[in-house]
Amino acid sequence: MQTYNAPAKIILFGEHAVVYGEPAIAAPFSALQAQVTVLPAPLGSGLSIIGAASGLTLHVSLANDTPDNALIYAAQLVLKALGKQPPDLTLALRSNIPIGGGFGSGAAVSTALMRALSAALGAPLSGEALNALVYEVEQLHHGTPSGIDNTVIVYEQPVYFVRGTPPETFRVGTPLTFLVVDSGVSASTRETVGDVRRLYTQDQARYGALISEIGDVVRTARTLIESGGALEELGALMNANHALLRALSVSSAHLDHLCAVARESGAYGAKLSGGGRGGSLIALIEPDLAPSIATAMREAGAAQTWLMHLT
Ligand code: PMV
Repeated sequence: MQTYNAPAKIILFGEHAVVYGEPAIAAPFSALQAQVTVLPAPLGSGLSIIGAASGLTLHVSLANDTPDNALIYAAQLVLKALGKQPPDLTLALRSNIPIGGGFGSGAAVSTALMRALSAALGAPLSGEALNALVYEVEQLHHGTPSGIDNTVIVYEQPVYFVRGTPPETFRVGTPLTFLVVDSGVSASTRETVGDVRRLYTQDQARYGALISEIGDVVRTARTLIESGGALEELGALMNANHALLRALSVSSAHLDHLCAVARESGAYGAKLSGGGRGGSLIALIEPDLAPSIATAMREAGAAQTWLMHLT
């Protein structure tokens, strides 16, 4: 019995603008994981996927060419890429990554599943092949994904990502501590990405300017992170990035409030992370303030908090 994992991810800077070709910075978040275990199945029973928590059972065949289920689609893509028929196996899926939480749950589940299936078929996919296949599944989830989620999750490294170019990793000059906060509200990235697209189409001058301002914030943030610059400055950039995301319509009163409480409780800065309107936010903090800021977050209505260290 073998188990394959994939971590969640956190976008530190640049979500949404990354869809339009601006850079974004993201890191794997291994406190949350998707996990797939390969179990034997009786001869002739074919390939099924079971969800440990949901009790769901899915049967994978190659007959349906455009399934609307992302798990079936992920398995089919692997079978087709490897030129194989469905084997007699059960793939048991577990994940503690909140869905619709801005943590890249979809990409993590696809990655773990594709790793498990390709390995079980005796042909583990290379990082590059896996990344391309997970991106195809992401298109089913998100419509027009930038590719940042699959890239961070497949390579399990911090990335400075520009759509359509090979991902770069970056140096971290001074260790950074983030409080990662699940706002408790699940939200659809497909919807927020679609709404930004509509606004951009209606008023390209205004929304294009906001998007390129986000790009400037991300470029400055990378320089600061690499040089180990002042945390106050990095925090201010997070606040600026949040304000720009709000102007793009992807924040919410709850996210604005949680960010404000984080700042009032001593965080250097805070911003939503991922698709927005709900999902998660991150706050740059001094490690010794973690317990008090986490308590303030929960009192303000957050569902859960974690620490993430970037070194
Ligand atoms: O909501 P998430 O975690 O899937 O993050 C999506 C990031 C966006 O920039 C909003 C969309 C994208 O495809 O890059």
